[in-house]
Amino acid sequence: MASLVQPVHETETSSEMAQPQTLDGARVRTDFPILIHPAEPGRQSLIFLDSAASSQKPNVVIDALTAYYRDYNANIHRGVYHLSEVATTAFEDARKKIARFINAASPRECIFVRNTTEALNLVAQSWGRANLQPGDLVVFTEMEHHSNIVPWQMIAEERGARLAHVPITADGRLNLDRFDEILEEGPKLVAFTHVSNGLGTVNPAKEMIAKAHAAGAVVVLDGAQSTPHFAVDVQDLDCDFLSMSGHKMLGPMGAGVLYGKKSLLDAMPPYMGGGSMIRKVELGHTTWADVPAKFEAGTPSVGDSIGLGVAIDYLNELGMDRVWQHEQELGAYALDRMRELPGIVIYGPESAELRSGVVSFTLGDIHPHDVAAILDEQNIAVRAGHHCAQPLMRALGIVATTRASFYVYNTPEDVDRLVEGLYGVYRTMTGQPSPTMSSARVVPVSEKSDGDHAPCRAKWDAWNHTDEKQ
Ligand SMILES: Cc1ncc(COP(=O)(O)O)c(C=O)c1O
Repeated sequence: MASLVQPVHETETSSEMAQPQTLDGARVRTDFPILIHPAEPGRQSLIFLDSAASSQKPNVVIDALTAYYRDYNANIHRGVYHLSEVATTAFEDARKKIARFINAASPRECIFVRNTTEALNLVAQSWGRANLQPGDLVVFTEMEHHSNIVPWQMIAEERGARLAHVPITADGRLNLDRFDEILEEGPKLVAFTHVSNGLGTVNPAKEMIAKAHAAGAVVVLDGAQSTPHFAVDVQDLDCDFLSMSGHKMLGPMGAGVLYGKKSLLDAMPPYMGGGSMIRKVELGHTTWADVPAKFEAGTPSVGDSIGLGVAIDYLNELGMDRVWQHEQELGAYALDRMRELPGIVIYGPESAELRSGVVSFTLGDIHPHDVAAILDEQNIAVRAGHHCAQPLMRALGIVATTRASFYVYNTPEDVDRLVEGLYGVYRTMTGQPSPTMSSARVVPVSEKSDGDHAPCRAKWDAWNHTDEKQ
């Protein structure tokens, strides 16, 4: 594969003059201390391929968090002293950066929450309670993360609303014919993910939103797996709501965003009551503050939100187009190399163009948790499980996959290590030096006489009883 590491092509007047045309993952990696720690004795260097769950953090974000706590830690919006003013300004500046990043019409349309889960629950509980009537239809899809299913089930049950879902096609795309048919029933709300965390499928969001609007629905777009990876323009997409998880886009855990059109947010009741979200409190009655404060009850994650703003600065410096190109190239290279593995099934669309940098797969009848646990012995971090998408797994006829996901700091060499690691998985599980799945008998971990991988089985049993984080 052609190297992703390209020389800087300078143009005379461009403001991006000093930036390379493509992203240099190896250079980017040096900004991430966790990725350049010397390997522990006896271990290989870390290959981190689980950014779809949570990305690593660059020095600038870690430094921003430290600076907040060291230099200007204070509660915001309520202090009249200097420190509080500095913290408030930094917090509100982060909101402005987020608004620019997704091209919101105003920072007031960006509400700080902890993560996508909280953003989606906010819409379900606030908009849903105020707008859903018995018999109304709420639509989501078969490829959703649980956080874009369960909140709708909860509010639908409370309000007596009906649910419908858009199924997936055999190659892991949304069945848009079924989508059109469901829209004919006039749903009140349509919620879907921009990019699937379990498959990497990039959904045709703009087209789907236009159709849903034409059918009279409000549209909630789950941006957890899109906003970290490519430029998302909420005005161009015309979504009514968009959710973001800062921890998946180089930011700290604890800072996420709900974008909502101001007209909708203004008309919605608060989600939580308490400090900061009020205009006037009397003993018998309270009036609400304007958005975004109306939805930000209590003390927010000030440092984390500021850190998210810095993560966005960092992504902007890399350039979101370059970020996306880098991931698509890595994803395409991974698909090419991984297809050579005997017995592999890769889920999601065939064409790399319809996919993000997520590769979800099974290896013959080796359990995905065994694959991940054996890769971990080579210090390759991948995710295994149902990825908080049990309906999707059911549609695929499996219980779990192993998932490798790529981000700005990954390189083609990481893909090579992964592929070598997967050959190692075959060797461990079959005891054969040169595996072919047609001839190899895969020995279940529980049957292995040396007991080496008993811990994998124990982990699997434990995982089986939890709703492991995606
Ligand atoms: C598509 C999608 N939606 C929602 C979520 C939930 O995100 P969070 O755990 O940050 O709330 C995830 C997390 O992986 C996801 O991938």
